[in-house]
Amino acid sequence: MAPAEPIPFTGATATGAFTTTPSPTDPYIYQTGFGNRFASEALPGVLPIGCNTPQRCKYDLISEQLNGTPFVSLRASLLHAWFYRIQPSVAHKSLRRHRPNPDLEAVFTPGNADVVFTPQDHSWAAFPFPPNDEAVDFVDGLKTIAGNGDPAAKEGLVVHVYLANKSMDRRAFCNNDGDMLILPQEGRLDIQTEFGKLMVSPGELVVIQAGMKFSVKLPDGVGRGYVQEVFGCHYELPELGPVGSNGMAQPRDFETPVASFDVDQSEWTVVVKLVGKLFAYEQGHTPFDVVAWHGNYAPYKYELGRFINSATVDRDQSDPSIYCVLTTKSKVPGVSTADFLVFTPKWQVSRNTFRPPYYHRNVCTELMGMVCGKWALSSLPEPGGLTYEPSYMPHGESYDLWKQATTADLVPLRVGEEAIAFMMHIPSHVSLTRYALERCGMAFVQTSWGV
Ligand SMILES: [Fe+2]
Repeated sequence: MAPAEPIPFTGATATGAFTTTPSPTDPYIYQTGFGNRFASEALPGVLPIGCNTPQRCKYDLISEQLNGTPFVSLRASLLHAWFYRIQPSVAHKSLRRHRPNPDLEAVFTPGNADVVFTPQDHSWAAFPFPPNDEAVDFVDGLKTIAGNGDPAAKEGLVVHVYLANKSMDRRAFCNNDGDMLILPQEGRLDIQTEFGKLMVSPGELVVIQAGMKFSVKLPDGVGRGYVQEVFGCHYELPELGPVGSNGMAQPRDFETPVASFDVDQSEWTVVVKLVGKLFAYEQGHTPFDVVAWHGNYAPYKYELGRFINSATVDRDQSDPSIYCVLTTKSKVPGVSTADFLVFTPKWQVSRNTFRPPYYHRNVCTELMGMVCGKWALSSLPEPGGLTYEPSYMPHGESYDLWKQATTADLVPLRVGEEAIAFMMHIPSHVSLTRYALERCGMAFVQTSWGV
């Protein structure tokens, strides 16, 4: 170990606010915190003081607001940001229909023949990448798996996977339907947004909220991952209750980009998603020309391995809600649209306890996936795959696992080393798409008890 550096006894004063340090896998720096009112300038002195819309901004930049909540909302829930940009977003050519993505779904009602409500559980082997002779970027590679509700009513959610092998080239995406929680499983995502740049690796999540323009490059050549998109609500940290202020996902571990702009007057295409349909417009300048911004409606990423696990240290099991990273409020007070849970390596130490997930019938629908690794004593899917347990249908481990778990010597055990699993825990009924059930060719039904 290197000797500790002596602490200067004369004292010191910080010369700037804290930002993260680049790493070999991520060249960017970030501001830290969850829900902060951030402020960032790529050129000094651009943010106006004491107002948001001065008569004339520095360098003749354009001031432009983006909000994520209606103007009249409770102060605690207000989300918005101010951009100071080279060209206003409104400077674009007329809108047209984009070529359809036949695997995108948006309306999950029993009247839609393209979705299926079924009480049958399903599993999927790893979803396949596009063939090598087909160039598919993040937007074209979105495939809807499951969903509930309707983005037109701003209620419900949708679960996609993305399967891509091509970077977006002077093409940006703007999803007007909902906030996207994106979870890369294979290949990093180099995401340029109006707020700055994020490099997101497998093992991290990124949230890009509704109405934000972003473009995805694939620095590792391919990209496969999961997307949970919520309509009419925004991701929040769960309440902590008796856990207190130092458990679960820590607000300071969420990372938001710093302002970064390009000077680029080439032709760009912006693809807009509305109620699952794609539209597009062209413009003669990059959408990523924001020189400075401030506000609390901004994208962020989070490394799942930083989640602080709480656990039973004597006997019995807690509900898996102790693994909740982010939640979203539905329009029913106290009921979420979805909880996003993560399962990272931990110790199991309980005595006289059935240690695998308990057998149960859950009002909530569960969609589970693996980012990496394997979970011992569990029937979780392979990385890149998924499982679906519909509302109220019984599930639990196999007879063999039950036998093993009920006769094992209950010594302290490290589980899930090098593995990351997740669950989307959804209080509503969830339907499956024709892509998930038929076209992807990866769906199968497994009998968990072995009968
Ligand atoms: Fe379950």
